[in-house]
Amino acid sequence: MNTFGTLFRLTDFGESHGPAIGGVIDGMVPDFTVDMDFIRGALGRRRPGQSRLTTQRREADEVRFLSGIFEGRTTGTPIAFVIENSDQRSADYSEVARAFRPCHADYTYRAKYGHRDYRGGGRASARETAVRVVGGALAQQVLAAKGITITAYTSAIGGVAMSGGVGDYSADAIEANPVRCPDAAAAALMEQEIMAAKKADDTLGGVISCTIKGLPAGVGEPIFGKLQAMLAAAMMSINAAKGFEYGDGFAAATMRGSESVDTFVSDSEGHVSTLTNHSGGIQGGISNGMPVTFRVAFKPIATMPRPLDTIDVDGKATVIEVGGRHDCCVVPRAVPVVEAMAAMTVLDALMLSCATKL
Ligand SMILES: Cc1cc2nc3c(=O)[nH]c(=O)nc-3n(C[C@H](O)[C@H](O)[C@H](O)COP(=O)(O)O)c2cc1C
Repeated sequence: MNTFGTLFRLTDFGESHGPAIGGVIDGMVPDFTVDMDFIRGALGRRRPGQSRLTTQRREADEVRFLSGIFEGRTTGTPIAFVIENSDQRSADYSEVARAFRPCHADYTYRAKYGHRDYRGGGRASARETAVRVVGGALAQQVLAAKGITITAYTSAIGGVAMSGGVGDYSADAIEANPVRCPDAAAAALMEQEIMAAKKADDTLGGVISCTIKGLPAGVGEPIFGKLQAMLAAAMMSINAAKGFEYGDGFAAATMRGSESVDTFVSDSEGHVSTLTNHSGGIQGGISNGMPVTFRVAFKPIATMPRPLDTIDVDGKATVIEVGGRHDCCVVPRAVPVVEAMAAMTVLDALMLSCATKL
């Protein structure tokens, strides 16, 4: 299960402290001019060590393409790429070799595979999400050429949530602060919240909101390939993701039908839209032409610079104190990962809907 997608497919490999991580993309549009700076920019937004709020682990995250791109354009053949792991400090993780970090994947990987690469979380490390960002950055470029844009931002961290619902925010407003929240006042409070948790040797979770604009009506494959189901699967595959909702989501459960219904209107040119967007741009698993809106909740990561009670591989109670360098809050770094997974999902769905119209 290391391959994502049906027609646009990303196969992802590698461990946090191995020589490299990487991927193979199959199904990329041929003869497409690739903007390498866009890919580098997306990787830079996910990279550790980018601000005082993130882990000081420094990885250059330089992607090297091995195939599928010639003279700057895609050839239609598999696109293989690697990102070398340059800043490994395996000694930091010696304690995790014997004891299980509570709420990480140490115990479950051992239960499933018996043998595991414990260095830096091995395959369960979010280092792997850099591979998704490369695949997503390619998909995002294809979508942009078709007028489809994907914008994610931090809408809550810990107890601080930005006011207002789903908005139309510019990349400049989102990138104006290290938490990637377009509401400057809320962003300042979120930064304070992170610094306070950091001081207390603790961690924080949060929420990322995402809007997909320009997606035409008619994309999504009912019954089991509903667009919201594909997005939910994509988002819930991201490390530390704990919840997904689209449109009004869980809030719809407390509304009356009269409050949550989206009224259709048609303009003089026959262009159909709805007066409100409670449905989040999807009805019956198929896009209705309105912006697709969803949110992903992330937990506070389990690795904290404080002693934690746990057990070792022999079942003996022990206390684990993990060194290593970890984020206090991974939410700002997960923003480009949410965009990447959304881009690959939407491009795949778009390709599938073209295939079903043949
Ligand atoms: C961008 C990003 C960075 C992360 N960095 C860390 C980290 O430094 N330490 C950690 O314990 N977990 C980190 N995580 C979360 C773990 O990878 C995740 O909790 C672990 O794989 C267990 O999976 P689960 O929380 O989804 O059950 C990160 C997650 C993301 C999205």
